[in-house]
Order: sequence, then structure tokens, then C-alpha cells
Amino acid sequence: MSDYDPRITPWAVKGLMFPQESLREQLIFLLRFAVLAPSIYNTQPWLFRVSPPQIGVLANTAQRFAACDPEGRHLNVSLGCALENLLIAAEHFGFSHEVRYFPDVDDVYPWVAAVTFAPNGSTAPHRQHLFDCIPARHTNHHRYQDRPVPAEVLRALQSVVVEEGIVLHFIDDLPTQQRLRAWLDRADAQLFTDANARQAILDAVLQGTLDVGWLASTLGRIAAHALRLDAFASRHDEDMPFHAPLVGMILSREDDRVQQVRAGQAFERVHLAATYLGLSMQPINHALGVPSIRQAFVKALALDLAPQMLFRLGFADPEPTHTPRRPLEAVLLAN
Ligand SMILES: Cc1cc2nc3c(=O)[nH]c(=O)nc-3n(C[C@H](O)[C@H](O)[C@H](O)COP(=O)(O)O)c2cc1C
Repeated sequence: MSDYDPRITPWAVKGLMFPQESLREQLIFLLRFAVLAPSIYNTQPWLFRVSPPQIGVLANTAQRFAACDPEGRHLNVSLGCALENLLIAAEHFGFSHEVRYFPDVDDVYPWVAAVTFAPNGSTAPHRQHLFDCIPARHTNHHRYQDRPVPAEVLRALQSVVVEEGIVLHFIDDLPTQQRLRAWLDRADAQLFTDANARQAILDAVLQGTLDVGWLASTLGRIAAHALRLDAFASRHDEDMPFHAPLVGMILSREDDRVQQVRAGQAFERVHLAATYLGLSMQPINHALGVPSIRQAFVKALALDLAPQMLFRLGFADPEPTHTPRRPLEAVLLAN
């Protein structure tokens, strides 16, 4: 415990370090788990205002990739992931909580949620076992094994999606997955023709916030598509980075900003539950932030619900390292 420095090793945070001094210190400690959430291009677009017994979760709009996410939907989903980690940690340490989405607060940055905490809380059934998985979770870019995901595991993942109007759907048939992959390759190619989007992605890679492996695999797929290497690609399907026994999709009935945040919460729970069950996941939907690409996707798959997160799921070797995080101090706003 003594060599833990949260500014250097945010992933080494442990429940044992829970402070006893003051409610304020305790709420700040909960945020050490919130910042380990996944986010689009690892932008970590969150800011927090702590005024006990409340935490404000704010959108750092300066971190928004306008070219790739002009409507801010990936931003909202990412904030939902951080909010969910906060609630899981709060329940673990015995807090109950009340969330108000998009409260009307006059501030420099928009408030996405105001969470009020009280003592005597307990862990909700859909958050059981997830706390310990927060520092273990990571996006896995490796090749996934062919091993099928057992039906009871899928049922366990379904059981953590409890939000009204939010659905988890799995695509396990190969022809649909192949259509989806070809479709996403075209979408990536379209995204990379936009100079602003290209620059935003490159900046993220140079700053070390975006995984170089992801970029290499994405460019490889775009190249295969551009060179019309479909036949080659299908012959080498096993080697394609997209390859996975399952594709999952989180969809919502309504497509407003509250449902986008709640879809992020559901996604984060699914990701943590998958971690608990020994499964790997990788979102594959960054191109769907572009409205024209997204509309075409909804049409191509004849969806009658709004897709919020698309991800592959299966068994794979773990990533050797975690992605970096800004220190908590950098995302805590003064009161
Ligand atoms: C809304 C959203 C969209 C994402 N889209 C993609 C994607 O299309 N491809 C990908 O490899 N990762 C995607 N990610 C994963 C992020 O790149 C990842 O969370 C981030 O780099 C931090 O790494 P970690 O999840 O391992 O902590 C997405 C994450 C979120 C929250």
C-alpha cells in the first residue's frame, strides 16, 4: 500500500485504501474508480465537482472529438460508463445514491448527472461482484478464440442490463457478422477520408491516449477493403482482428441524451460482468458517431431501436498493460 501513488498507478487502487477521515475524502476516493472507465478514444471526457453529500459529473466538452462525434453521443456513453463505476464503488462502500440526469446547473461545463449519496446503502443485484472487476477491466484488441460463449454466460450478461428501454442483443451467426464487418470496414474508410477525423485520431495516438494496435488493425482493414482484398480477407478470416464468436449490441428505445448515458451505464456493467466471467470485449462502434454513417447502419441492419454500443465478445489473451489515465486531481474541479 505504501508504494501506491494514484498519480502514477491509478489502476492499482484498492478498496482497502478507503479513507475514514471525512465524507469529502470518501467521495473523492470513489472517483478513483470512476476514472478507470472506458471512453471513446480514451478521451476521458469527465470532470467532477465534489460538494458532500453530492458529486456532480460534468462533460469535459473540450475533450469531445467533434469530427468523429458531432452529436456527443459517444461522449454521453463514455460519461455513463464513468457514472456507473462511481455507483458500483459507492454501493460497495455502503452508500445509497440518487441520480438526477442533466440537472439544470449553471456551470462552466455541462452537468451530466448530480449524484446525492447517503449512508446505509447496499449492492444492488445487478452490481454484485462488479466492484473488484473495475481495476481488472480493459478493452481487448487481441485475436479472439473460436471457443463459443456458453448460453448461461450470455444469460448472466443479460441479467445486468436492467434499465427500462435498454436492450442487450447478441449476433452469433457468421453471415450477419461478416456483413457487419464489411459494413464497418466501409464506415472506417469513410471516416478516414475526413481530414478532421483523421487528425483527431492521429492526435490521440500521438498523445498516447489511443492504442497504436487499434490504429494499425483499423488501417489494415481499411487497406484490405480499399484494395478489394475481400476474397483474401475471407480466406484469412481467422486472422482478422474483427474475428470473435459473438458481437453484442446495446440498443435503446429512445435516443435522447439520458438514454445515451444510461446505455453507457449498462455497457459498463456488461463489460465488468464479462471480465468477472473471464471474457474479453472490444467496442467496435467508433464510426457510428458520424450521423450519416450511423443512419446508414440503422438502415442496413433494419434496426427499430437505436444502437448505442457495438462490441465483440469472446475469449482472448489479456492485454499486457492498461491504457493511461489522467490523474484524478486533473479532473476534480474546485468548489
Ligand atoms: C463510446 C465508446 C466507443 C468506443 N469505440 C471503440 C472502437 O470503435 N474501437 C476500439 O478499439 N475501442 C473503442 N472503445 C474503447 C476505448 O478505446 C477504450 O475504452 C479506451 O482506449 C480506454 O481503454 P480501456 O477500455 O482498456 O480502459 C470505445 C469506448 C467507448 C466508451
